[in-house]
Amino acid sequence: MPAPGTFGHTFYIETFGCQMNVHDSEKVAGVLMGRGLEAVEDPEQADIILYNTCSIREKAAQKVFSRLGAFKKKHGDKLIGVLGCVAQQEGEKFFERAPQVGLVCGSASYSRLPELLDQLKAGKRRVTGLDLDTDECFETEITRRDNPFRAYLTIIEGCDKACSYCVVPTTRGPERSRPADRILEECRRLVDGGYSEIQLLGQTVNSWRDSSPLRLSFAGLLARVAKIPGLKRVRFTTSHPRDFTPEIIEAIDTYPALCDQIHLPVQCGSDAVLKRMRRTYTRDEYLEKIDWIRAARREMSISTDIIVGFCGETEDDFEQTLSLLDRVEYDQVFSFKYSPRPKTAAGDWADDVPDVEKGRRLTELQERQRQIQIRRNQALIGREFEVLVEGYQPRLGQAVGRTTSNRVVNFAGEAEWVGRYLEVRVTAAGPNSLVGERIGPRGDGGAGYGC
Ligand code: 5AD
Ligand code: SF4
Repeated sequence: MPAPGTFGHTFYIETFGCQMNVHDSEKVAGVLMGRGLEAVEDPEQADIILYNTCSIREKAAQKVFSRLGAFKKKHGDKLIGVLGCVAQQEGEKFFERAPQVGLVCGSASYSRLPELLDQLKAGKRRVTGLDLDTDECFETEITRRDNPFRAYLTIIEGCDKACSYCVVPTTRGPERSRPADRILEECRRLVDGGYSEIQLLGQTVNSWRDSSPLRLSFAGLLARVAKIPGLKRVRFTTSHPRDFTPEIIEAIDTYPALCDQIHLPVQCGSDAVLKRMRRTYTRDEYLEKIDWIRAARREMSISTDIIVGFCGETEDDFEQTLSLLDRVEYDQVFSFKYSPRPKTAAGDWADDVPDVEKGRRLTELQERQRQIQIRRNQALIGREFEVLVEGYQPRLGQAVGRTTSNRVVNFAGEAEWVGRYLEVRVTAAGPNSLVGERIGPRGDGGAGYGC
């Protein structure tokens, strides 16, 4: 460990977990760079190593401990900071586990990071930011954005729901919404800076409430963002079914910049399990919202999250989740085995579905969903879509594009196409992506190839 106050000026951040964490790391990097520190891509060259951690499931939480174990052997001279959900959960215990750890800070205290860094610079060996009792959002003057096409923007932090299996309310604290005027100002700045796609983030993004004089609803905010000239795509995630309103669909139908994509986690198809999960809706109430989405004038793609093997989940409960998959026909499903977490309500309940059975249910669910996705994607063969080219694979000579509905389309292309919006026709389909061919440019598809 470096002598107090003597650590150098380069830092490296490794991020685990969700998009919120990815974006938090971008903001943390911005704060550090604003104070004269330099970001490096190689941990070997860094004086400060930061781990932005995730504790949503046991396996994710373990990652930081294995990093610290490996680290101990390699470099004794660096300063380590542990950020994010595991930092919040384990707190000062990190100092015992790894002597190089000098900073432990949960996301609700990130606005204190400059002050904590100053304390380290002034010679303090160990500093913590673990207070959850905050009404502040993490505002940064500089954010280092890592994705050249899609700018993430957090509009609400924390979570006030109390799903019985979930650590987020205890690791991220209570809900804090950023005021609409600040959000709109940042969106305009991002568009001026060249971004054409913005993704609004929040653990429960549609529970956002406006404290600005504008007093916008969430749907009203979407409309205002979508109207910003130059902005082509607006996504938002994650929506909670309880706060999902028909006005959101109306906004998507009205403003083309709002993407044809909704992520609406259901978690389970059985009312008995939903009740124990404390999700605050029934299967029928959830399905009613799906029916609103399906009744939209625009064809919407819907994705979800599902947990299998939650406490007391019977075979019949699981069958109801499978039947929900058939009923909704999702375009994408993120599915997980239930993992008991400390300081959650369900953490004290019997984790009574054996791991092999959880594994069997997960495989069965994923196979059922795979068939649905193959069917849905094959129905798109021959259709034409606009894609944003996000990458290029030189070995295959293929461009990788994304539709507004969040589908990936691979097509023969050129490296220069990256960053452009192009029209493609779908020629083949697998469960997770489409194959296409470029067709003539339409609208503002950028400089034409072959025209
Ligand atoms: N075990 C398994 N999956 C979980 N998730 C949240 N908590 C747990 C847990 N304890 C899943 C939910 C959530 C997604 C981000 O992670 O499906 O929507
Ligand atoms: Fe966790 Fe539920 Fe909040 Fe989502 S809504 S972050 S699952 S507590």
